[in-house]
Amino acid sequence: MGLKILKTGSSLPENIVENSYFEKYLDTSDEWIKKRTGIEKRRISKDIDVCDLSKKAVEDLNLSDEEKSKIKLIIVSSLSADYIMPSISSNICGHLNLHKEILAFDLNMACTGFVGASILAEKYLEIDEYAIVVGTEVLSKYMDFNNRENAILFGDGSGAVLYKKTVDNFSCDSGTLYSKDLSLIGKSLDKESSFIEMNGKNVYRFTMEYVPESIRKTIEMSSYSEDEIDYFVLHQANMRIIKGIAKRFGGIEKYFTNLNKFGNTSSATIPICLDEMNKKNLLKENQKLLLSGFGGGLNYSTCIVLSGGK
Ligand code: UT7
Repeated sequence: MGLKILKTGSSLPENIVENSYFEKYLDTSDEWIKKRTGIEKRRISKDIDVCDLSKKAVEDLNLSDEEKSKIKLIIVSSLSADYIMPSISSNICGHLNLHKEILAFDLNMACTGFVGASILAEKYLEIDEYAIVVGTEVLSKYMDFNNRENAILFGDGSGAVLYKKTVDNFSCDSGTLYSKDLSLIGKSLDKESSFIEMNGKNVYRFTMEYVPESIRKTIEMSSYSEDEIDYFVLHQANMRIIKGIAKRFGGIEKYFTNLNKFGNTSSATIPICLDEMNKKNLLKENQKLLLSGFGGGLNYSTCIVLSGGK
């Protein structure tokens, strides 16, 4: 069975922070950031928190009453919820005034969460049923803006996809290796004491060791050849990672990227990419899209979904 993208939406804070902002007070440079990461700017929220940003992303789906009636599942992937209860997914049910027969929950798989949630959606839905999967983060509240190693990497944003379960082929692969190389440990939700910490080199090595293999397995398990994959949409962590993987699969022209504009928005990167691709009319009916997320856990997930066209 398979998953088809019917609609996409996104929401990004208006405030744009260019690399030059960090040059003013940190020992860093626009040149270093661009060369080592590919990031030129990112959005940093000034006044909107993650639940409201998520509501705007699902509003952007412009759901009809008929589409709403077919939704059976909402999964919101986030590591930066404003509060523990009620969940962002419950908030979305209320905000969209959805019927009550919906399984809705939030999950935290860090940067891998959107793909993990997509895999769960495929396993849960019956043919022709719909799910909303959201990746959403306001990471800036957990960033130490005085730490040059992390401050320049992350951004805020939210993306949403309306999926339909279909009879098409679906293949996926996931893995988890416990590690504190990427962590957010402290008094939970306390802005003063909790910062994202990352051993970038170790996470980089982990990614290059496990993600290509996960992509290879996912393609091998599918009914598609590597050439038949129309787009590879990877977690937007570092352009060097994406280029390295593109040398092994597909070629860089098949990789959609926007980390130059938005940085690393953790679980939001992939749905934000999908929405931008959709709005640019890049997505045509039945194209095969390979999605791969990786990050804190450490973990990774890969799957192949179909595009439903605009
Ligand atoms: O989203 C979850 C998944 N995340 C990832 O997959 C991220 C994986 N890791 C990475 O993308 C890269 O490791 C980073 C972009 C985080 C760092 O790039 P790197 O090429 O691995 O740099 P590095 O940590 O090895 O640091 C190289 C040098 C160091 O200086 P020395 O020791 O060589 O003198 C750092 O102190 O660059 C220095 N450095 C900086 N210099 C200027 C680190 N950050 C900066 C900075 N500006 N912002």
